[in-house]
Amino acid sequence: MKTQKSLHLEYTEYTSLNSLPKLDQKLLYKAIEASKNAYAKYSNFQVGAAVLLNNGEIVIGSNQENAAYPSGLCAERVALFSASSQFSIAKMETLAIYASDAMGKEEPVSPCGACRQVMMEYELKQGQSIRLLLLSEKGKVWEFESVKELFPFAFVLKPSKK
Ligand code: THU
Repeated sequence: MKTQKSLHLEYTEYTSLNSLPKLDQKLLYKAIEASKNAYAKYSNFQVGAAVLLNNGEIVIGSNQENAAYPSGLCAERVALFSASSQFSIAKMETLAIYASDAMGKEEPVSPCGACRQVMMEYELKQGQSIRLLLLSEKGKVWEFESVKELFPFAFVLKPSKK
């Protein structure tokens, strides 16, 4: 038997950053600020991320490159790993991401697969959705209520008993 299936994903688009609540705007500005600390010598593509935790902390990250290319890390993972290292019990509420527009695109840059995998792990660990805000240089914002909306069919392992 053959069954055709389809998937429905939901996200919200804002044409301007000003249409968002003040706290979201603040988080997005933190991501813009963070992108200025990117070490992007090889790609010249600066990305900033800012994650808001339920204890009120905001943890930032930017992409960090290396002459041995795979040793570098995306802004999102720098922010998420740092947040988890510093505040392991806190829950991640919203992750804001900003990328400088190297290709002149209107749309926000979408996180890479490896970063989505990492986001998904934390979302499952904390049992609460992580909201995502993606901002383009042109000011357009995409909002996803959960990592699941951006990353269906994620690889998931059942946690071991220990
Ligand atoms: N990069 C990020 O920081 N986040 C993404 O979502 C996509 C890519 C970085 C990695 C690398 O430093 C540069 O952008 C070009 O790929």
